Amino acid sequence: MNNGVDKHGNSRFICAVAIAIEQTKVSVNFQILDPSQATLSIFDRGFLFGDSVYEVIRTYAGQLFTFAAHLKRLRRSADAIHLRLPFSDGEIRQHLTELVASVDKPDCYIRLMVSRGTSLPLIDPPKQEQPTTVAIVGPLQPWPQSHQEKGIRLCTVGVRRNLPSAINPMIKSGNYLNNVIALYEARQKHFDDALMLNAEGGLTESTTSNFFLVNAGVLQTPPLEAGILDGISRQIILDLAKENNIPVAEKPLSLEDAYNAQESFISSTTREIMPVTQLDETRFEAPGAVTRKLIKLYKGYVQKQLENT
Ligand code: PDD
Repeated sequence: MNNGVDKHGNSRFICAVAIAIEQTKVSVNFQILDPSQATLSIFDRGFLFGDSVYEVIRTYAGQLFTFAAHLKRLRRSADAIHLRLPFSDGEIRQHLTELVASVDKPDCYIRLMVSRGTSLPLIDPPKQEQPTTVAIVGPLQPWPQSHQEKGIRLCTVGVRRNLPSAINPMIKSGNYLNNVIALYEARQKHFDDALMLNAEGGLTESTTSNFFLVNAGVLQTPPLEAGILDGISRQIILDLAKENNIPVAEKPLSLEDAYNAQESFISSTTREIMPVTQLDETRFEAPGAVTRKLIKLYKGYVQKQLENT
């Protein structure tokens, strides 16, 4: 194996964040399996219709990070699609902790998915739902050093972020086609990721992360109503900024606002705070002074959480 590709030419990493497939453990309906042994029905509605919800959680030093917030969001997503989660928070915490222990790495990527289970390949929801629960836990591979140190390149794309009145981006559902198409378009243009606009042309978010600007020292990010996921990292960053006297504005933002900004970054559970060095033709200082300060504050926040667990 080299360059992350196995002898068949397939990537040995799964999903956008690199998680090494070796040492990855999975479970299907709470049964822990080797990834090669794990199978699902072709009639699973997650596969048939994207009829599922998910969360990406991570560990630091073997500890689940912001677990309660992730479970709260998962429950809200499930409620929004009328899906009953087949476990209590305590049960799933215990199960994920067991999987993390079996991977035995300090920094793990955890993908927890719940689908509406199997049905005929008809859209009608089954009368008696038996949800399918899948967990994938593997060592979290760091993002390329250059992304952290120099920043990533984003471009705007033709495909718009889902309307909140269609599939609300606040539902973290297994239907990510909107974002998949956007990422395809960005990669075709040789950019790292896409910045998605909403139907009115306002800024929303990147394909798996939230988007921030710094303009004249003010930290700015689109509000939830713009049509974005309420990122857990996003909220931590907003809280840290407020606590540390960095002026914050959650408000509708235009592309012009972005092109006139001095700094920009994206945020997510796995990327934390990742500077943006370029948006379309506009370049930013990356990481700029405010971004650097927030990166430091975020690291401090993680450390504090670990000390309190
Ligand atoms: N993505 N926006 C979208 C569309 C996302 O998919 C994510 C998370 C975020 C950031 O949310 P958080 O800070 O809670 O991770 C914003 C995860 C990491 C993923 O699907 O891989």
